[in-house]
Amino acid sequence: MQKKITVVGAGNVGSTCALFLAEKELGDVVMIDILEGVPIGKGLDIAQCGALLGFDGKVKGTNDYSDTADSDIVVVTAGLARKPGMDRLDLLKKNAGIVAEITENVKKYSPNAIIIMVTNPIDVMVYHAFKISGFPKNRVIGQAGVLDSARYACFIAMELGISPKEVRAMVLGGHGDSMVPLPSFSTVSGIPVTRLLPADRIEAINQRTRVGGGEIVKLLGTGSAYYAPAAATVKMVESIVHDANDILPCSCYLEGEYGINKLFVGVPAMLGKDGVTKVVELELEPEDKEALLNSAEIYRKSIAELDA
Ligand code: 2OP
Repeated sequence: MQKKITVVGAGNVGSTCALFLAEKELGDVVMIDILEGVPIGKGLDIAQCGALLGFDGKVKGTNDYSDTADSDIVVVTAGLARKPGMDRLDLLKKNAGIVAEITENVKKYSPNAIIIMVTNPIDVMVYHAFKISGFPKNRVIGQAGVLDSARYACFIAMELGISPKEVRAMVLGGHGDSMVPLPSFSTVSGIPVTRLLPADRIEAINQRTRVGGGEIVKLLGTGSAYYAPAAATVKMVESIVHDANDILPCSCYLEGEYGINKLFVGVPAMLGKDGVTKVVELELEPEDKEALLNSAEIYRKSIAELDA
């Protein structure tokens, strides 16, 4: 049976997600937003691409949560985006209210759904949705590592003058400047990047990756990136819909893995039909392990701020 996938938010990230989901024919897509008319108009616009791009994607735009009922997956993109000079954590309080309201509706209309959180700051918002929904931890996941790893792969490919298709990159930790790129777990045709590039170039690429979202925010002037964030989200949905168990870095609720407890942090996880099938524990270099723990602590503080 076709899966039903709801995208909450018809802004740039949400509507691009809906387009990619439709193009890949991953299921029946419902796009919901509070702005009257907008999700309906964008839904029609996307559906009309089907005749040109050759897909049979069904996209229904709506302002009414009852249209989202019994979704298998709910992607949450609604919320404010960063402006130049802002940190993702600056969005905390405003987006927490939005995410709380959305989560209540997901709980009411799609109690068996898997939630994929895209709203920033992702690692805090996913925790917020987990608490409010009461869903089991395998059904609440944050998107972040897939995007950061795609940026890392892109920069590695640019440095080596090769196709990004040949690169498999891995970035762990929170979706912010504290993220942890892992060059020894990032490969080109199976060869670790550490054997292909000198240490100083790797560190420069690591740093560009850490601030990769901010680089785009600055260039756009208003709003933040959306093509790659949407593509990263759809990659997660694809693994779930096909029960592929792809190992993808994403924000998962940890209970002791990597020495982290009761927090969402970006780690490699297998994603299948029930959401997170398994958190994959890698043996990290001591400095990477420490960086991951530091990243987790930043989000523990933000969660405490939210609860205060
Ligand atoms: C980014 O990194 C929007 O947080 C997102 O581009």
